[in-house]
Amino acid sequence: MHNEAFSTIAARVLEAASKLYPEVAALRRHLHQYPELSYQEFKTTAFIKEYLAQLGIEAEPPLMETGVVALLRGEGAALSGERRTVALRADIDALPLQEENRHGFCSTVDGCMHACGHDMHTAMLLGAAAVLSGMKAELKGDVLLVFQPAEEKAPGGARPMIEAGLLKKYKPSAIFAQHCFSSVRSGSVAMCKGGFMAAADELYITIHGQGGHASSPHKTRDPILASAHIITALQHLVSRVAPPHEPAVLSIASINGGHATNIIPGKVAMMGTMRTMNEELRALLHEKFEKTVRQVAAAFDVEADVEIRSGYPVLYNDPAMTDLAWDAAKEYLGDEKVHPSAPLMTAEDFAYYLRECPGSFWQLGTGLEDTARGNLLHSPTFDPDEHALETGMGLMSYLALRYLAGGREL
Ligand code: NI
Repeated sequence: MHNEAFSTIAARVLEAASKLYPEVAALRRHLHQYPELSYQEFKTTAFIKEYLAQLGIEAEPPLMETGVVALLRGEGAALSGERRTVALRADIDALPLQEENRHGFCSTVDGCMHACGHDMHTAMLLGAAAVLSGMKAELKGDVLLVFQPAEEKAPGGARPMIEAGLLKKYKPSAIFAQHCFSSVRSGSVAMCKGGFMAAADELYITIHGQGGHASSPHKTRDPILASAHIITALQHLVSRVAPPHEPAVLSIASINGGHATNIIPGKVAMMGTMRTMNEELRALLHEKFEKTVRQVAAAFDVEADVEIRSGYPVLYNDPAMTDLAWDAAKEYLGDEKVHPSAPLMTAEDFAYYLRECPGSFWQLGTGLEDTARGNLLHSPTFDPDEHALETGMGLMSYLALRYLAGGREL
């Protein structure tokens, strides 16, 4: 049961989010019309700073060329005792994709589109800043607003921001973020405790053999036959090395070599992805990957160049912080709007923050039942339901208030 004070605060957040919704939707549409690629979010950065300045929030000294960090100081903390900070993060970059939607606020930039909802994330965090600015007296600590650049392109913006001292300087004791998903109904959220998103590593293999006439294979060292065996042998990593209860994916997604019916080529290049949910298994699979490729290549008397480019780590949602977000979401949105989520094999650089600071990352529903089938993340017709902005900005705000109040009902 809510006590009176807490319910009043939830009601005030709901009311503020509802009032701000048209303004935040307009912010989102502006961002959608002027998308910028990873590491190039200069106009977006200026736009964020300008809106925060209107709220009376000055941006902190920059940690990267793009992106904004700002601190909203609450006025409701006790004078004695440790002052706490909670961080809320949004990513701000767009994708190299040509928009195919037909709504009235399509991207004006050729070949660039907010197709991952980062325009929504940015607008919602600005909305939360506005909601919380109006409730400073109730805010029992500080809120660190992190508008992070370059989530879409490795090495990502999270790691350089952390390396530049983000967490050491502002010392948040918890961090939260959300991501649009059209597979979850608008107005709802879905949360997962523990390993939520995968570590994603890029795989590159080049097989060097000896080319020649395809009628005389005995005079060649055939990289195509070797590649076929390597691909087949690599399947044992998921089926025989990874424990059956541990999610793992290994896909060779590209193979290139040869150009004629009667020529055995000298070289074959392959690429693929490896996804894991456990850092120990990840390390083991890296080792076995390299060994398998090299040893099968050796059996076929060809040479292998093997490269694994490590991507984002496993995104691990802190159990206690996820419980807190879950309870806050149930209070704020109602029981029927909060669902458990299965782990996903996608990757996110929010994972880096969670390695240093406990927190949680959840799916914000942006789907409608009548949504077109093409409404998928990273598709040219991605079109999230904007009403989710109200849900997302309100939940972020309420969670920050609740966390700073000691994580329990007021
Ligand atoms: Ni994204």
